[in-house]
Amino acid sequence: MENNKPVVVSGARPTGRLHLGNYWGTLRNWLDLQNKYDCYFFVADWHALTTGADKSENIAENTREMVLDLMALGLDPAKCVLFRQSDVKEHAELTLLMGMVTPISWLLRNPTFKEQLQELHKAKYKGQEDKMKKAEGVTKQLAEAHGEDAEATALHSDMAVIGFLGYPVLMAADILLYDAKFVPIGKDQLPHLELTRDMARRFNHMFGAQVLNEPEPLFTSSPLVPGLDGRKMSKSYGNTIFLGEEAKSLEAKVKKMYTDPLKVKLDDKGHPEGCVVCAFHKLYNPDWQARETECREGKTGCGACKKQLIELMEKEVGGFRARRAELAASVDVEKVLADGAARARAVASKKMAAASKAAGLI
Ligand code: TRP
Repeated sequence: MENNKPVVVSGARPTGRLHLGNYWGTLRNWLDLQNKYDCYFFVADWHALTTGADKSENIAENTREMVLDLMALGLDPAKCVLFRQSDVKEHAELTLLMGMVTPISWLLRNPTFKEQLQELHKAKYKGQEDKMKKAEGVTKQLAEAHGEDAEATALHSDMAVIGFLGYPVLMAADILLYDAKFVPIGKDQLPHLELTRDMARRFNHMFGAQVLNEPEPLFTSSPLVPGLDGRKMSKSYGNTIFLGEEAKSLEAKVKKMYTDPLKVKLDDKGHPEGCVVCAFHKLYNPDWQARETECREGKTGCGACKKQLIELMEKEVGGFRARRAELAASVDVEKVLADGAARARAVASKKMAAASKAAGLI
């Protein structure tokens, strides 16, 4: 590990059991990166609190589940530093310092904050508009003053806590502590990375020292993974397939997958684009092109197509389940995380000391 490979940092929130969207979108890349770079991967449990403090009772358990899932996928604590964010207090400490140089206006402009806040606010009070008005309580007048401006109204929501607004500040600290050269992210996280760069630059400029290094995004290719219903696979849509989905329920889920509504009879000509079953053939079937041709020509029905997919997927998912069960019985997750935290801390504490010194503290 002690070498001159560029540093890569990435985190994922402990959302519980991981699904195939997580795998194809992000984690498959982590497996690759651990062999090429000096990687710091962590479970972002503090980040989980920024929008979910009201349902935080599962964070510890979700962290354990996630670490086991990651290891069963092949993430190897001997090849990368795997740790839990809240075990390394320097993440909080640097967040505090970065907060001193981050104008609130930057955070208010953050598109992720604006969009998510409105969604959260609406979701929380879905079907209880009267309650929503009440929750807006003292600030109701303010909300009314904003008229139909949903964005401004949401800002007065009780979901708009400082930790949520400061999400990118914590994320910047995560990254800057380790001198990350690259941060593998999806396009949705790009505004956060831009903010990280802005904060690093402002910090260095303000304190007249070159302490924090600006990271670059690493856009790794990832196929689009639809959920069962054709929307993006996401836990909040309830359309996921878990990495270790049980055989029976895998079968039931594939059978439920959205297919081309114009293909009703076996010999109807199908349209693979937009068909979820076809999208998964692309991921799990080396001969997916032949399948698509047959579909287009009306030579196969959706039932047969699904049946083959179930077999192909069960091979992978079944293998995962076995590895996962073995690890769950043999690995001391807390020990893995403690070891990872010690290695992360060794690096983070040095950077923290340099940042404190630059800021005039010691
Ligand atoms: N914001 C990221 C997400 O939701 C998770 C994350 C937290 C992260 N800290 C990070 C990603 C640092 C990369 C680097 O996906």
